[in-house]
Amino acid sequence: MFNFGFKKKTTIETAIEVPKHIAIIMDGNGRWAKKRMQPRVMGHKAGMDALQKVTKAASDLGVKVLTVYAFSTENWSRPEKEVSFIMNLPVEFYDKYVPELHANNVKIQMIGDHSRLPQATLDALYKAEETTKRNTGLILNFALNYGGRAELTDAVKAISQDVLDAKLNPGDIDENLISDYLYTHFLNPNLRDPDLVIRTSGEIRLSNFLPWQTAYSELYFTDVAWPDFDQEALTEAIKEYNRRHRRFGGV
Ligand code: FPP
Repeated sequence: MFNFGFKKKTTIETAIEVPKHIAIIMDGNGRWAKKRMQPRVMGHKAGMDALQKVTKAASDLGVKVLTVYAFSTENWSRPEKEVSFIMNLPVEFYDKYVPELHANNVKIQMIGDHSRLPQATLDALYKAEETTKRNTGLILNFALNYGGRAELTDAVKAISQDVLDAKLNPGDIDENLISDYLYTHFLNPNLRDPDLVIRTSGEIRLSNFLPWQTAYSELYFTDVAWPDFDQEALTEAIKEYNRRHRRFGGV
């Protein structure tokens, strides 16, 4: 429970439950830039700046895991210049922002199929992981070249292989075991599934983002473009989360 310090009319302070795991689809960078007569990539740059601020805000609120959709398996179809700009962002992020996150006890991790990422991008992310690996605060989890169906396909392949190698009996396969074969396996089991998914910029879909892990997540859609999303917008999303009543199929 976290106290935002808001006062009810009765002056009784309202205690608010902060979601343990928040996942964000950071959408609308291109439109944000276009509105300002700037090239699309400037929207991604502003999006990276917003990510830093939102990570700090989430960390201050006591969020445990923040998973951000930075590049999907479908994003390769964008113009080459835009793809290479996005691929260079982790390099910039490492130099400009990781020191501050490290000082704030943030641990950086990543999920996705990393076989196709440029070496410089991977190196920056590996360095960020290495630098922050002993931190015990918020986990900032980058989904890069992430696709939910690819994740499930990889899991099915790995499970089949373990059955073939007699490491596993088909009868052992249950939901917990499948969760252990997903990209999010390194997270504590009670933190793997987002409590809240936020998508910015008006689109109302999940776009292949964490299909297994979001089965029971609360979904929050806002018209705010990602570069404009800030601490106040995050607080608003968390307040809305608190208005929902999560029943997990019960009554
Ligand atoms: C979607 O907006 C956004 C992306 C595909 C890229 C998101 C990346 C960041 C916010 C930076 C992440 C930081 C690091 C360090 C990797 P869009 O381009 O689809 O926007 P549009 O729908 O308005 O065109």
